[in-house]
Amino acid sequence: ESTLAAAAAQSGRYFGTAIAAGKLGDSQYTSIANREFNMVTAENEMKIDATEPNRGQFNFTNGDRVYNWAVQNGKRVRGHTLAWYSQQPGWMQSLSGSSLRQAMIDHINGVVNHYKGKIYAWDVVNEAFADGNSGGRRDSNLQRTGNDWIEVAFRTARAADPAAKLCYNDYNIDNWSWAKTQGVYNMVRDFKSRGVPIDCVGLQSHFNSQSPYNSNYRTTISSFAALGVDVQITELDIQGGSAQTYASVVNDCLAVARCTGITVWGVRDSDSWLGANTSPLLFDSSGNKKAAYTSVLNAL
Ligand code: XIL
Repeated sequence: ESTLAAAAAQSGRYFGTAIAAGKLGDSQYTSIANREFNMVTAENEMKIDATEPNRGQFNFTNGDRVYNWAVQNGKRVRGHTLAWYSQQPGWMQSLSGSSLRQAMIDHINGVVNHYKGKIYAWDVVNEAFADGNSGGRRDSNLQRTGNDWIEVAFRTARAADPAAKLCYNDYNIDNWSWAKTQGVYNMVRDFKSRGVPIDCVGLQSHFNSQSPYNSNYRTTISSFAALGVDVQITELDIQGGSAQTYASVVNDCLAVARCTGITVWGVRDSDSWLGANTSPLLFDSSGNKKAAYTSVLNAL
């Protein structure tokens, strides 16, 4: 096969990228993205600050730009993200307790309803677990509304759009030996045992020298899958751009039937949130295919 999307489709998987609305006028960017990818995540445009800048006033202008570009070009869309400690609008940052809990519920209803029936999977909750060795929740205004905030978010999203897959998404849950991974694993196991609606786990997979790819990644993917959820690699980038590491990531996903797709977090190195100098993506800043690209294509 000659594109990432076509190669991934050979095994029934997708290959996606993050898309920024502000770059849709860049023809090099859109031509690469349109050619190579068949799943789209809005890099920022469906986040809480973008979609509800004032309480109760929703704005889907840029989210719809990304959504419409994707669908007009035959791609599916992952929704990102409904409940997160970061990129909250100011009004939400200043809420707490039952009013914040209600605002979270209202936000989920407003956004999921706008895109009802249109989204492959929602990252319902993003980055709710703490870094380090606790294995517990991250402190945040949402966490302080009560430990049940995550399951409330999932139940709200399920009721608002029963057709969308509902995912928990996080970083540094790639390494099976890390406490954070185990904390999320225990939550998903608990949710499955109690019937809390969860369909998928997103492994962001931002690999760098502090949190490098580890060969137990395949164990992480298969262990989550064994709980009865799909696993998606949702925000892949590898600082330094090792072609060999990219191939290992692809091989690990392909080894697990319920690893349903891979999304890289940007198109060209110059599009990366990490800065082009870290060379983390599959295309260089001029839009040329890198060694990592060929490595991924061959592994798919
Ligand atoms: C990043 C975007 O790429 C940046 O443009 C923005 O300034 C900050 O957020 N984990 C996530 C993504 O879930 O939403 C983040 O995206 C990267 C880390």
